[in-house]
Amino acid sequence: MEFRDVVLRRRMVRNYDPDRPVPAPVRERILEHALHAPSAGFTQGWAFLVLEEPADRDRFWAAATPGTGGRSRWLASMRTAPLIIVPHSNKRDYIDRYAEPDKGWTDRDETRWPVPYWHIDTGFASLLMLLTAVDEGLGACFFGIPAERIASYKAAFGVPDEYTPIGAISVGYRAPDHRSRSLARGRKPVTEVVHRGRWGQKG
Ligand SMILES: Cc1cc2nc3c(=O)[nH]c(=O)nc-3n(C[C@H](O)[C@H](O)[C@H](O)COP(=O)(O)O)c2cc1C
Repeated sequence: MEFRDVVLRRRMVRNYDPDRPVPAPVRERILEHALHAPSAGFTQGWAFLVLEEPADRDRFWAAATPGTGGRSRWLASMRTAPLIIVPHSNKRDYIDRYAEPDKGWTDRDETRWPVPYWHIDTGFASLLMLLTAVDEGLGACFFGIPAERIASYKAAFGVPDEYTPIGAISVGYRAPDHRSRSLARGRKPVTEVVHRGRWGQKG
């Protein structure tokens, strides 16, 4: 598929054909592409949990989503995903990497970081996985794990303390789904968000 088509066709897919697993070569390509994301200092402070066995996926949904809250339709369709990938970031890897001689931040002072590169890099990797799914003819959705479910998620899968799940990605062959209500906001046009030459000069 043309790169532009991949970009323009990508959208979050929230319902899947439950009887069509993600073929192993496709799954591996998705993961391999994630590892080609850029990362600050080439730290690669990320790790990915791959869940395919029905019991593992059940455990994920039980641990990582709220038991209540009116999202039952969302959850029922998301649960059809045959594959879940949870991308994690590791802040300590970055603090360690930037304390190395070529970077020199030996004080390990976190206020040096203008923004948390650990989450950014893992986000880049996540986007590559979303785009690869489209390129392979599948659909995927990045979604958040609620703050109050992070601990139960980590406990359920033995995730070490230093790793933070930045969200999760469901993957599978697309089935008809409901449009997110958020889309009613409309896509912001270039003229609204792009400033040229100086802040405030748009168009
Ligand atoms: C950081 C992040 C968190 C998101 N969390 C959720 C979520 O918890 N549940 C969900 O259904 N979609 C979630 N989304 C998907 C957005 O709703 C979606 O990207 C947005 O509405 C634009 O739609 P599109 O990606 O289909 O173009 C999330 C997206 C991002 C980037």
